[in-house]
Amino acid sequence: MIYPIYIYGQPVLRKVAEDIPLDYPNLQELIDNMYETMFRADGVGLAAPQIGLAIRVVTIGLDALSEDNPEFKGFKRAYINPHIIETSDDEVAMEEGCLSVPGIHESVKRPSKIRVVYLDEQLQPHDEWVEGFLARVMQHEFDHLDGHVFVDRVSPIRRQLLKSKLINLTKGKVRCSYKTKS
Ligand code: NI
Repeated sequence: MIYPIYIYGQPVLRKVAEDIPLDYPNLQELIDNMYETMFRADGVGLAAPQIGLAIRVVTIGLDALSEDNPEFKGFKRAYINPHIIETSDDEVAMEEGCLSVPGIHESVKRPSKIRVVYLDEQLQPHDEWVEGFLARVMQHEFDHLDGHVFVDRVSPIRRQLLKSKLINLTKGKVRCSYKTKS
């Protein structure tokens, strides 16, 4: 099942999402639907608040990038109750976009490496350092779980320039190829 994607301005995108209990009902079905929703929208990541649920569940799928990055061949993972517990001191800039903020792409600075704890789809615990593009996608997606959207992290000047576009999104003036809720 494909969910509508909640657009910038929807209050759920500003909530701090809760960890879920291990017996959360129909978790596998939720994850499968999140994969389907993400791939249909050509996204590389989707966080549960983007489908209206303030819970700590994220899907990431990087296979579309595997031509240039063979390590991402078949990469399709779910992250349950993820938390970033440590980051490197350096910051790197990279252009980001978001299914909840269609039509906007901006450079964002983030640490290059992060230490994350989470449960995988089989509910096995992990504690690992991640770097590179995956660390970037994780930080973007896990930000959603803390009520942050990437445009919060652009420079004040860029943000000022984006203001009218963001206001349009909150007013429901959205054009994109997937189902949305604004
Ligand atoms: Ni996003």
